[in-house]
Amino acid sequence: MTNLGVNSGKVQSIMTKGPVIPVVIIEHLDDAIPLADALLEGGVTTIEITLRSDAAMDAIATIAKERPQICVGAGTVLTPQQMAAVKDAGADFVVSPGAYPELIASAFDHDMAFLPGAATASEMMALLAHGITAMKFFPASVAGGPSYLKALASPLADAVFCPTGGISMETAQDWLQLPNVLCVGGSWVASKDLLKAGSFDAITANARQCSQLI
Ligand code: 3PG
Repeated sequence: MTNLGVNSGKVQSIMTKGPVIPVVIIEHLDDAIPLADALLEGGVTTIEITLRSDAAMDAIATIAKERPQICVGAGTVLTPQQMAAVKDAGADFVVSPGAYPELIASAFDHDMAFLPGAATASEMMALLAHGITAMKFFPASVAGGPSYLKALASPLADAVFCPTGGISMETAQDWLQLPNVLCVGGSWVASKDLLKAGSFDAITANARQCSQLI
């Protein structure tokens, strides 16, 4: 298999900016800057905006342009075409629930920091064979939970993870204490409900709690 080495060093520096990467679905572009500011006020400087809404691409572009102090990622990137589009929009990194050779190649072609998903030892080994050491463990809580990921730390010693999927403020620490976990991702920080209600103060409070995790 080709060793493409897709920027895992760059991804790892993004993963260590803070213990939690908020995963967000932005339905309304008008929410983008208030959301970014709410997170910044709570000490969170990294965000993943998923391509699961019509406003997502514009929200990525708006935050990238107007709040350069935020490291903005594009999530749910499933195709090379989306990889190209989020690069054009100004995304700093890309997250995917999984990976396949063409998607990995497109990350390399666009010199994009890429955090692909993996849930099994074989999927992780396939990513390692591409030179990818930073991975999203997804869907973290139902794929096996912290004890499952901990069991992979010794045999897959080069792999580091951002577990995402089913994680909450209450369970984040269980993951963060693992030797092969650099950060976690989760939608609880800035949930759809909080955004819908315009509860930016609550988002700041959540972000502040996240910043205090070790
Ligand atoms: C997702 O699938 O949206 C992310 O993995 C976040 O999952 P969560 O909503 O369970 O935090």
